[in-house]
Amino acid sequence: MVLATSFFASLLLLATAKPLGPHTMVVHESRAAPAEGFVQSAAAPAEQELTLRIALKQTNIAGLQTELYKVSDPASKFYGQHLTLEEVAEFVKPTDETLAAVSSWLSGNNIDAKPVTPAGDMLEIKIPVSQANDLLSAEFSVFTHIETGKTFIRTLQYSLPAPLTQHVEFFHPTTIFAPPLASRPKFVAASPAKRATPGSDDLPGSCTSTMTPACLQELYGIPTTPATQKSNTLGVAGFIDQWANQADLTTFLTSLRTDINSSTTFALETLDGGSNPQNRSQAGVEADLDTQYTIGIATGVPVIFISAGDDNPDGLNGFLDMIILLINDPSRPSVLTTSYSFQAETDLPLSVAICLYLATCATRTCSWALLVPRCSSPQAMAVFRAASPRAAGTMSPPSPPAAHCAITSVGSTGGINQFPGISEVGSTFSSGGFSNYFPTPDYQAEDVAAYLAWLDSLGTIPEDGRFNRSGRGFPDVSAQGENYEIVVDNQFGTVAGTSCSSPLFASVIALLNDELVAAGKPTLGFLNPFLYSSVGRAALNDVMFGDNPGCATDGFFGHAGWDAVTGLGTPNYTALRTAVGL
Ligand SMILES: *[C@@H]1O[C@H](CO)[C@@H](O)[C@H](O)[C@H]1NC(C)=O
Ligand SMILES: *[C@@H]1O[C@H](CO)[C@@H](O)[C@H](O)[C@H]1NC(C)=O
Ligand SMILES: *[C@@H]1O[C@H](CO)[C@@H](O)[C@H](O)[C@H]1NC(C)=O
Ligand SMILES: *[C@@H]1O[C@H](CO)[C@@H](O)[C@H](O)[C@H]1NC(C)=O
Repeated sequence: MVLATSFFASLLLLATAKPLGPHTMVVHESRAAPAEGFVQSAAAPAEQELTLRIALKQTNIAGLQTELYKVSDPASKFYGQHLTLEEVAEFVKPTDETLAAVSSWLSGNNIDAKPVTPAGDMLEIKIPVSQANDLLSAEFSVFTHIETGKTFIRTLQYSLPAPLTQHVEFFHPTTIFAPPLASRPKFVAASPAKRATPGSDDLPGSCTSTMTPACLQELYGIPTTPATQKSNTLGVAGFIDQWANQADLTTFLTSLRTDINSSTTFALETLDGGSNPQNRSQAGVEADLDTQYTIGIATGVPVIFISAGDDNPDGLNGFLDMIILLINDPSRPSVLTTSYSFQAETDLPLSVAICLYLATCATRTCSWALLVPRCSSPQAMAVFRAASPRAAGTMSPPSPPAAHCAITSVGSTGGINQFPGISEVGSTFSSGGFSNYFPTPDYQAEDVAAYLAWLDSLGTIPEDGRFNRSGRGFPDVSAQGENYEIVVDNQFGTVAGTSCSSPLFASVIALLNDELVAAGKPTLGFLNPFLYSSVGRAALNDVMFGDNPGCATDGFFGHAGWDAVTGLGTPNYTALRTAVGL
């Protein structure tokens, strides 16, 4: 906040800078048509207020990425020395020249700008449609998302004065058409409908057919003793009116964690008009799953449910707003789990920029790991894997090398006790593949090369030509994701999906962070360089079997070492403790 204030001061000082002289307008971003699934329905009302974010060119994002890897790599002497807010700002803050150029242009047009990030590299302005059209030589219109009927104000093109193009990364949301977020777990009510009986102990079935906290603790060696450090918290992201119900949580804990206080609750943080109403009939399957399997596994770790409402100006269902909120919060959770995803990388041309902000976040003190299960429907996988070129005219890529997404992606396993001598098998819905946006990061390069060589040795690669061999491979790790027993609207039932795996893996990391803080050590931060290191991978159970068919193909196959179904494998808590130096 100190930084934001000083940024304000410089903005005021510079407001007296010379206005731009006569200039030509240069197209900054454009597209021929809205994204598939959207139609243009009307001109946008001239007086309607738009909230726009302006991402300014950052000073040295490549330098920040180098630092991120240094502090995240156990082999580096800088491991765990997460950067401070001020140190990160040195890499991402715009130059004085950029600030002067942009602020004099805005003040010359009587527009107030407010910085939304601590280093002032992203500004927010609120102006009517008519002024936005003039300022940016744009034609803001109403577009309708056909499937949901939701409307969005976007433009197919906008321009900037020529002298500003070198200072501005992008205006947002303008030419981005992101469909509403999805979460996919389907709740299958226990049959016959089993109403909760507090204290009943007949609920946990065998782990083969029903996953419970006790099964997962046993399988992965996860401790049941409570965490001790109140400063180390675990964040659970909530979007699209998915609400987490306390009464359902209490019922869940009463039956499935009889050893802990069944009234254990979560804290609530909201943004974009978010809320968390407690009428039991409004409980969300995803939100109930996520809170039950973080509080039920990360025993004693304070959990914060972060609920983004529908009033989100970010054009991304609150995703970017949530990242900005966390970047600005010095006591942010050390781990965030999100089970929501866009269907395909191409839905989110802004992903590159978002990843830059994630990198900013992950580099900091009180570091942050984000666990994102990718979409898991076959159709979604097909879109993700198909090597579709970047849509023409989307946001210009940031200067190379682009930061790799500072995210740990979690796939799913199942098949407990089903095959002699094999404890886990990749789930058919475990999403995996290769990115078209992000190149294979160094920490993963050997694994991806070995996996591709093995695929090549098979003679026929079912997916050949349909995925990007030089992209970042995912998932990074995996965890059980089938038949999770949960309580929704006072009813027991089961769910499956990577939506189960991500809260589980996040809970394991939160418990390790608790022990690290107790031992006076830094939390884990961005996990991947550790996970892929020789110590990290040795603490994971390699899952060698399974495939993830989709798109009328057999999908990828499980294999020894990293594979595009289960990543490096599932957690072994005891071994991870040792691996992180406890
Ligand atoms: C259980 O947790 C609730 C909510 O935090 C608290 O009010 C209550 O005192 C706790 N009960 C015990 C026995 O610790
Ligand atoms: C809870 O929601 C149901 C269904 O929408 C409604 O019938 C009921 O009145 C609500 N209860 C309360 C206390 O708001
Ligand atoms: C494949 O991935 C690389 C590395 O991220 C990228 O540069 C390239 O554009 C991608 N290819 C296609 C066809 O998208
Ligand atoms: C987990 O790691 C511990 C310690 O390294 C080891 O003894 C145990 O066999 C491992 N468990 C599994 C399931 O591999």
